[in-house]
This record gives sequence, structure tokens and C-alpha cells, in this order.
Amino acid sequence: MPQIPEKIHELTVGQLSARSGAAVSALHFYESKGLITSRRTSGNQRRYSRDTLRRVAFVRAAQRVGIPLATIREALAELPEERTPTRADWARLSEKWRSELDERIRQLNRLRDHLTDCIGCGCLSLENCVLSNPDDISGERLTGSRLLAEERRPLRG
Ligand code: FES
Repeated sequence: MPQIPEKIHELTVGQLSARSGAAVSALHFYESKGLITSRRTSGNQRRYSRDTLRRVAFVRAAQRVGIPLATIREALAELPEERTPTRADWARLSEKWRSELDERIRQLNRLRDHLTDCIGCGCLSLENCVLSNPDDISGERLTGSRLLAEERRPLRG
């Protein structure tokens, strides 16, 4: 990865891309989503402050573990004056996100187990297949003709 001399305080999009490993298109996308900012030169070229490298590293690390961009943006926006996340910020947020990741892994494991039941079945039964109707509220409340009668009842307003 190319090093950028300490005396350089602003980076072009190409330098930022080369140093961070993020594609130029990804950097433009991050900017359009408010994750990073730049200033424009008189020639209308983007210039990024050097600490944008750290912001990009933060965004990419969070994305790698599946944190949605909206959540990343919220986390960055909560930092005082939207400063670049420090080591302590990342430690705190990564701890919080780990619990969310653990929960997602638990949910995915449950889905995988349900999917295993579907393999070779194909019924997609509303009564028997957990994946085809996971929140079977109607099934718990009413069934058959009683449910149909209730659905046909005109709405009162
Ligand atoms: S398709 Fe039959 S149980 Fe899911």
C-alpha cells in the first residue's frame, strides 16, 4: 500500500483510494451518504483531509461485519463535532456491534435450521413450514371459515 508523506495534509481521491484500498466509486458513494466530506479546489477537484483515511478505515471495518451504512453514519454523527473516530470510539462501538452481530448470527442459525427442514420438502405449507409463514398471527387467532367470515366483514368507519 502506498505511503503518504506526513507533510501532506490533503489527499486527492486517487491517493485516498490507493491508500485506503477503497475504490474511487466507493469513496464517492461514501461522500454521497455523508460518511466522508471533501472540499473542492478552484478547479473543482475533491480534496480530503488526511484523517479521512481513518474514517474510511472505520467505515470499511464496520461494513465488513455487516453493519448497515445508516448505522455507521449515525455512529459517526454522534461523535463530538463529527470528528474522526479515535481508537477508544472504535473499541466502544465494536463492542456494541459485536452484541448485534451475535444476535444476527443466532437469527441466521435459526433460519438455517428451518431451511434444513425445507430441503427436499417443497410444501411451503402455511401450517407446517416455518419459513413460508413465520409470523402466523391469523393461524393463532382464527382458522378456516371463521377467518374468511371475519375478512369479508365490511370495515366500519
Ligand atoms: S417447504 Fe416444507 S417445511 Fe418448508
